[in-house]
Amino acid sequence: MVNCLIVGHGAREHVIGETLVRDGANLFSFMSFKNAGLEDLSENVEVHSETDFQEILEFCKKFNIDFAVIGPEAPLVVGIVDALEKGGIPCVGPKIEAAQLEGSKIFMRELLAKYKIHSNVISKKFDSMEGVESYIKDMGEENLVVKPEGLTGGKGVKVFGDHLFSKDDIIEYCSELVKKKSRFLLEEKCNGEEFTLQAFVDGKNVIGSPLVQDHKRAYEDDKGPNTGGMGSYSMEDHLMPFFTQDDVDEALSDMEKTVAAIKAETGVEYKGFLYGQFMKTASGIKLIEYNSRWGDPEAMNVLPLLKGNFVDICWAIINGNLSNTYKFENKASVCKYLAPEGYPVNPKRDEKIFIDKKELEKIGAKYYFASVYREGGDVYTTTSRAMGVLGISNSLEKAEKIAEAGVGCIKGKLFHRKDVGTLKLLQKRIDHMNSLLKR
Ligand code: AMP
Ligand code: GLY
Repeated sequence: MVNCLIVGHGAREHVIGETLVRDGANLFSFMSFKNAGLEDLSENVEVHSETDFQEILEFCKKFNIDFAVIGPEAPLVVGIVDALEKGGIPCVGPKIEAAQLEGSKIFMRELLAKYKIHSNVISKKFDSMEGVESYIKDMGEENLVVKPEGLTGGKGVKVFGDHLFSKDDIIEYCSELVKKKSRFLLEEKCNGEEFTLQAFVDGKNVIGSPLVQDHKRAYEDDKGPNTGGMGSYSMEDHLMPFFTQDDVDEALSDMEKTVAAIKAETGVEYKGFLYGQFMKTASGIKLIEYNSRWGDPEAMNVLPLLKGNFVDICWAIINGNLSNTYKFENKASVCKYLAPEGYPVNPKRDEKIFIDKKELEKIGAKYYFASVYREGGDVYTTTSRAMGVLGISNSLEKAEKIAEAGVGCIKGKLFHRKDVGTLKLLQKRIDHMNSLLKR
């Protein structure tokens, strides 16, 4: 049996761990915060900083780890893969230079511009207020997005019309970033529908998985502050009514070009998982951001549908010999996140969560632990998303009903978006896309 290490502590790592175990791995977990799901699946766990590479290496040696899968971005962007590989542990995840695709939005935009990758958008970097006003004037304030340079957990980006409503708002936010000594981008605002395309990458080959659509805003009807993602869905044909196979091919082709550009620019191959967030607009497919890992919640939509053996895929990523033969079940999936009341602004922590496991099983809903802790057999909230509930079925409608019924089996001071995965919201997206494309 293969001894696999998973690094990370969220629902994304829970589903990665579940898939590794499903496909024959002995699981070991290293996490900065104990995930109850991973604890139950693992032979052994250590709770310690995910960026203490020496400690992780010692854990690997102690348990004869064959390879490590890195879940979150934080250790990737500071070089976990370089450190573990130096210590003799092969990793599924990009090295530090390649992970800058997520770690530095400026690096990413400049790379795409230099290699003339089509889906790039116009942007300009700043490290002071010099030139900000004239750039706003040139672009028009209503056409701008402000993006801090580093990792912000999906909460640092501010979009005109959503979070910023005047030139003064833009200037105020930019000044705030300058004060914090954060470099930032002013970027062309795109209008359209977003999709997530996640892929396995072995340095050269980029193998895509079913499209997913996430819901970043906290409240129903896409209202409220941005979050890490409140839920997501995928469809049985692995597309969406408003994204065609041609759109996916175009996005995948740009991901391939990006992987080649990383090698050309840094000399390092991109290996691991690559998350492309794209927007379909009236003027074509645009790249919104890259992440150097699976999405959370999007990993929960895709990994349970994987027909191939995930352990073998991880070896193929490490060995650079991925083939394009991996299949995913032709099923729809809906994931709904339960978050503590008040999240993300003022979340209620340390609240008990009651889980009716028998009923969840009866309904056929799966569930994944995110930021909760277990004490004496009970699970409690922290300040972030608590649990992901997943429905899988032959159609979106059925998958959504399973997810919603599953959510009903989990009680506590929690909330979720009832509209994620509903046909009503899907129709709204279709209408939106049609109005932009004037069909
Ligand atoms: P990010 O952290 O880069 O994923 O950005 C968070 C959210 O901001 C994205 O999911 C988009 O909805 C929005 N966003 C980011 N960049 C742009 C852009 N260039 N145009 C329009 N919306 C954007
Ligand atoms: N769901 C958004 C992310 O994983 O970044």
